[in-house]
Amino acid sequence: MPKALIAGNWKMNGLAADIAEARSLAEALAANGASCRVALCPPATLIAKMAWSLKGSPVAVGGQDCHSGLSGAHTGDISAEMLADAGASLVIVGHSERRADHGESDAVVCAKAQAAFRAGLEPIICVGETLDQRKAGRALDVVVGQVEGSVPLEAVDHGFALAYEPVWAIGTGLTPTLAEIAEVHAAIRATLRDRLGAAGAAAPILYGGSVKPANAAEILATAEVGGALVGGASLKAADFLQIVRAV
Ligand code: 13P
Repeated sequence: MPKALIAGNWKMNGLAADIAEARSLAEALAANGASCRVALCPPATLIAKMAWSLKGSPVAVGGQDCHSGLSGAHTGDISAEMLADAGASLVIVGHSERRADHGESDAVVCAKAQAAFRAGLEPIICVGETLDQRKAGRALDVVVGQVEGSVPLEAVDHGFALAYEPVWAIGTGLTPTLAEIAEVHAAIRATLRDRLGAAGAAAPILYGGSVKPANAAEILATAEVGGALVGGASLKAADFLQIVRAV
């Protein structure tokens, strides 16, 4: 079994002063070790500063999105190569907030994951159903379709993680039951295995959506949960550390 990955997604939160939270997380982990891999994905403005500050520490740094191209006339966008150059080793692609706010399709997400591979970054490829889709009994179909459309076949030769984030559980305090998480993760695992063989069998499948210190241990102990993608509870080192310690 590969080590679990606990990744924090700061979303559009964080100023230079908040690097202190990342430092305090890194110092706590350096002192006592961690049984899993740990990463923080700050806004783009903080990647270089955070990567510099965490150099040599147990905490990796990731981006929250990248463009699929290498360079060019794309105002406001950032390439995977730029993220790597700034010190990132991972990048989140296809987060539901990007899919909703920026109209990103599975094909776009797939191209972004390919860009991550090209730049030597580990993509965390996100999928997840809306509440309407779950109520209509379509959660598994939607998620499996997103995995098929968003995970490039080149993933057989690269490290990557998948993140299952039900849209209705993000930032709401709601979570699926453990049985529902296990059901979706099993479907994702079967799809990854079919598409990618051994690489699909080994990739960590993270759960994301209202993970907090109080529920992390039971979620992380659920079948096929290989880590967590944490939003709000990753902003404070003390909370995030408790989640890391729950692995
Ligand atoms: P919350 O943990 O704030 O629900 O956010 C989850 C998420 O979207 C992580 O990418």
